[in-house]
Amino acid sequence: MASSSRIFPVYLPVCVAIAVVVVIAGSFAYPPLAASSAAAMTPEAVAARLAPMAHEEFVAAAPAAHALRSGQTVYSGLCIACHGAGVAGAPKVGDKKAWGPRIGQGFDTLVKHATEGFKAMPPKGGGADLDPQEVARAVAWMADQAGASFKEP
Ligand code: HEC
Repeated sequence: MASSSRIFPVYLPVCVAIAVVVVIAGSFAYPPLAASSAAAMTPEAVAARLAPMAHEEFVAAAPAAHALRSGQTVYSGLCIACHGAGVAGAPKVGDKKAWGPRIGQGFDTLVKHATEGFKAMPPKGGGADLDPQEVARAVAWMADQAGASFKEP
């Protein structure tokens, strides 16, 4: 204790001096925070910084937005919920007996029913964001599993 209390008064001014140097040097190294952030946070400045990123995201997302999913993909992601097990009287995928008379109505009628809804079948199977062509593809894929030979549009 005796030795540390003798050393302490020597170190204290050194510490204070270092702290002062750090604070002063810091204010040169970094522009004053308040001024820079006010200018940097204007909507124009923020938009300008985000613009390159937003553009890249848009370019990356654009092809994906137009890439239609295959009938099987749509089926596996949505239609399977009812048509997989035959929920609520839905014709099961691959069930020729259940699909036969329906296929007999023709592709266009099936697509119309799948798109607009038909009895317990909700419009687009509940997939409101599905592209009409994706619905038609899923119809073709499902019917083909039960013996039809429709081509996915
Ligand atoms: C919520 C359950 C449910 C989902 C999800 C669903 N369906 Fe259906 N679907 C049904 C039911 C129930 C029927 C039978 C309706 C009837 O004839 O009584 C049916 C019938 C159909 C038919 C036959 C229509 C006709 O004219 O006989 C087609 C085609 C069809 N669905 C396509 C689809 C497609 C494509 C999807 C996915 C995008 C889908 N369904 C998702 C319940 C569903």
